[in-house]
Amino acid sequence: MKIYSVTLIRQGWRFDVQAGQSILLAAQEAGIRINSSCRNGSCRTCFCQLQQGVARHLIEWPSLSREEKDDAYILPCVATAESDLVILTDYAFKL
Ligand code: FES
Repeated sequence: MKIYSVTLIRQGWRFDVQAGQSILLAAQEAGIRINSSCRNGSCRTCFCQLQQGVARHLIEWPSLSREEKDDAYILPCVATAESDLVILTDYAFKL
């Protein structure tokens, strides 16, 4: 199974995510909480911007506009990594 590195650039924290695993869950397993609520891609509480790398949403219709997708915004509760990632969020905390 492939494992990718995720870096939260603003906090300087890094954790691993398995291919197919949600980024939010991987962060949680690493002791990092990214703000979340619904965890199904609808509420947008976990809204982050990808700075580097390739992520894929696990659901067909995540709650993002076309413009947000074009600007590399992701919902990490329903997104997984397809390469090492660098993510920008203001709302991550150590558990
Ligand atoms: S937690 Fe609701 S969209 Fe991610």
